[in-house]
Amino acid sequence: MSALFPLLKPVLHAMDAEKAHQLTLKALRILPASRAGRVNPVLAQDVIGLHFPSPVGMAAGFDKNAEVLDGLLGCGFGFVEAGTVTPKAQAGNPKPRVFRDPGTRSVINRMGFPGGGADVFVKNYHAFREKGRNKGGIIGINIGKNKDTTEALDDYKTLIRIFAPIADYLTVNISSPNTPGLRDLQKREHLLPLLEEIKKERARVSAKTTPILVKLAPDLHAEDRAQIAQTVLDAGIDGLVLTNTTLERPAALPEKFRLEMGGLSGPLVRDKATETIRDFYALTKGNLPIIGVGGISSAADAYMKIRAGASLIQLYTALVYQGPAMLKHLQKDLALLLKIDGFTHISQAVGADHR
Ligand code: FNR
Repeated sequence: MSALFPLLKPVLHAMDAEKAHQLTLKALRILPASRAGRVNPVLAQDVIGLHFPSPVGMAAGFDKNAEVLDGLLGCGFGFVEAGTVTPKAQAGNPKPRVFRDPGTRSVINRMGFPGGGADVFVKNYHAFREKGRNKGGIIGINIGKNKDTTEALDDYKTLIRIFAPIADYLTVNISSPNTPGLRDLQKREHLLPLLEEIKKERARVSAKTTPILVKLAPDLHAEDRAQIAQTVLDAGIDGLVLTNTTLERPAALPEKFRLEMGGLSGPLVRDKATETIRDFYALTKGNLPIIGVGGISSAADAYMKIRAGASLIQLYTALVYQGPAMLKHLQKDLALLLKIDGFTHISQAVGADHR
């Protein structure tokens, strides 16, 4: 896939963004998956009780139905966050619902969690675990509620019941801007009972304590952040994924593109995401592992997030513009940046800006 991307990019980028994505998924499904290559051991880390061969992960939203996990791990990701998966299948918002702006290397999406639902996901996931070349790879499962569900808690409990026994980690997505009311779950009065119930359900259904992370928006005010930090600590959550897409529309965006509804991703969300990481690392006194995501398109971007407090990082939009070959460069350059700063292991750089 890495070698093919430069050939395919002009074709893919001449197409509607979602059609291009479907074609990419098809290519990843039919091309024989390579085996994940060796990564510089200075980048390997134990976080949330799991061994990550590389800190660079595929962000949620790319593989919503767990269809191409093997191919993604073979491209060089150290882990993949699959989903967002909802309990029932749903169509998502009307198309078109994904838009590219090549000038700023941004994407706006208002997908609204389309997907085959938990049944389809589970079937694909088991097939990967049984037959995948990279079947031992780390897979996080990102869970979200159906659009027509009025009681969000019921959906999250259903998903915990299905996925806690099989996931390496779970991410509770309460930050997608494209499901009405979802972001309201970030408020303490909703969040604390939600997380407590989720933890109870996990204890009930699974002998293993699957780590539970919470994914937050970059559009939170300082007071919200402080409240959420206290809430996740009180609830005993295992980590945070920071951040989802933003509703902000920076001035650099061209007029027509900026008017599209949905979440913006890519370089223009980078600094907002990094500052969110910095804040939460400070608020939780570095006690809560953070996966940093938002606008990472180079090793320098990844390194900024790590120094701000992220133990692991993820990306999505940069892959659309640069293709999977970027992963190799990113990892090589990240090891170099660590060395330049005198670190002998990535763990020493996590939160370094705070010391
Ligand atoms: C996303 N993202 C996302 N996040 C999530 O938790 N569940 C999802 O289903 C999706 N879906 C989705 C679709 C598309 C087309 C995009 C571009 C993004 C958000 C994604 O995981 C990530 O948090 C942001 O995109 C920021 O990272 P990048 O893309 O700037 O590296």
